[in-house]
Amino acid sequence: MLVVHTIAALRAALPVPGACAFVPTMGNLHDGHLALVRQAASHGLPVVVSIFVNRLQFAPHEDFDRYPRTLERDCALLQPAGCDIVFAPDEHELYPQPQSYKVLPDPALADVLEGHFRPGFFTGVSTVVMKLFNAVQPRIALFGKKDYQQLLVIRRMTQQFALPIVIEAAETSRADDGLALSSRNGYLSSDERAHATELAQALRTLAERFGDGVGPLDLLERQALDGLATRGWQPDYLTVRRQRDLSSPRDGDEREGAWVALGAARLGATRLIDNIEFSV
Ligand code: PAF
Repeated sequence: MLVVHTIAALRAALPVPGACAFVPTMGNLHDGHLALVRQAASHGLPVVVSIFVNRLQFAPHEDFDRYPRTLERDCALLQPAGCDIVFAPDEHELYPQPQSYKVLPDPALADVLEGHFRPGFFTGVSTVVMKLFNAVQPRIALFGKKDYQQLLVIRRMTQQFALPIVIEAAETSRADDGLALSSRNGYLSSDERAHATELAQALRTLAERFGDGVGPLDLLERQALDGLATRGWQPDYLTVRRQRDLSSPRDGDEREGAWVALGAARLGATRLIDNIEFSV
């Protein structure tokens, strides 16, 4: 496995564009990332994993500075998972000048849910992913469904800019008790970790009640938010959206279809997100 830190070294290692499978990450890897790498390796192409903590997608009050940088440990995990090249640029390599050109994603998709609570987040994500795509020039790029909205934003960006890249989704990896794997789970105290599955449980209940025709949805959402709040969480949103474009169902809409229940909530100082796809 090769570890490169510059775009020039990456291009030298991958002279033919469109001939690799790519997994972008911010490092501090867990089994969910490694499952993505194994899925990438199943395509029989060289696998490139990027490790870059992207300042552009963090608000000033967020955890950019304390986000764990664990390159050595990450590389030791990546090699057996089937990674061929680790691309780990420093900030100056990816942003040699302040990044004044940005990708502005469709507000209908990017200014709701996560984008509402983290303004500018998807501009930061789309901009770095566009830049990474240009550096790596992959044929396939893999994104986890854990970051459901991110997956849709990147898929639409790829379509709208006619990028010759197939965006492949990977199922969310979960711990035995159902907690979605996330680099931020490491911030939880042992007491918080014991409660952390309550977000996924609340989403499952919301999905079931929506599917059973109970309603209206805003009442179900309010009950889900209140339920988590009484357990000590500070929820941002719990809702049901259409899988294809995250649009909201309106009162009286047919409930048959492909839906996703999505939520974000803070447990202590840690903000967790999760989602559950379901069909009615
Ligand atoms: O999902 C992530 O880890 C990041 O948002 C990504 C896609 C690597 C962009 O920084």
